[in-house]
Amino acid sequence: MSDASGKGPVIEEVLDEDVQSTVAVAGHPLHAMGVHFPIALAIATLGVDVFYWFTGDPFWVRVSLWSSGFAFATAALAGLIGTAELVLVRGIRIRVASWTHAIAAMMLIAVLGLNWGFRMQNPENILPHGLLLSVLASLFTGLAGWHGGKLVFDHGIGLIISDKE
Ligand code: HEM
Repeated sequence: MSDASGKGPVIEEVLDEDVQSTVAVAGHPLHAMGVHFPIALAIATLGVDVFYWFTGDPFWVRVSLWSSGFAFATAALAGLIGTAELVLVRGIRIRVASWTHAIAAMMLIAVLGLNWGFRMQNPENILPHGLLLSVLASLFTGLAGWHGGKLVFDHGIGLIISDKE
């Protein structure tokens, strides 16, 4: 049953839980600090593939091998930190939105790994398969990033409110 505010007992219980970040350095949450790298590198890899498409210069194939590799490595690292937040903080763990973001992020990490591994094995096959994987990775980056942002801006998750004046 919901009360006059429209919130039922289950919603009240969810709202009561602490959602502050625990994996942080000097009050700065590490996941929020780290996610910029995979986001930028995944989108940059798509840009690099488009340069290769237009120029045909194999220099861009080597650039994309590094950018896709670091996109995957930094996403995996961000994923480990995000998973620690998810597992350790009950208020984060019991929200469905957290799991929506986690699933989108796991899909992203898998596609980034595939994109990098594909380039290692098939550097001559970037067009069209590598390019298409970069498009897919960019779409998942948008999806995971969007849902990550919703956690912070809609649910107030992952903040650390300082008690300093
Ligand atoms: C399994 C993997 C992941 C899990 C479980 C996870 C979990 C979380 C959690 C709990 C938050 C709330 C803030 C916090 O507690 O730090 C968050 C925020 C966020 N996540 Fe993830 N995350 C994962 C991977 C990723 C990846 C790979 C990206 C890169 C696209 C990403 C992008 C974001 C963004 C943009 C935010 C909002 C950050 C902010 O502005 O403060 N996450 N994530």
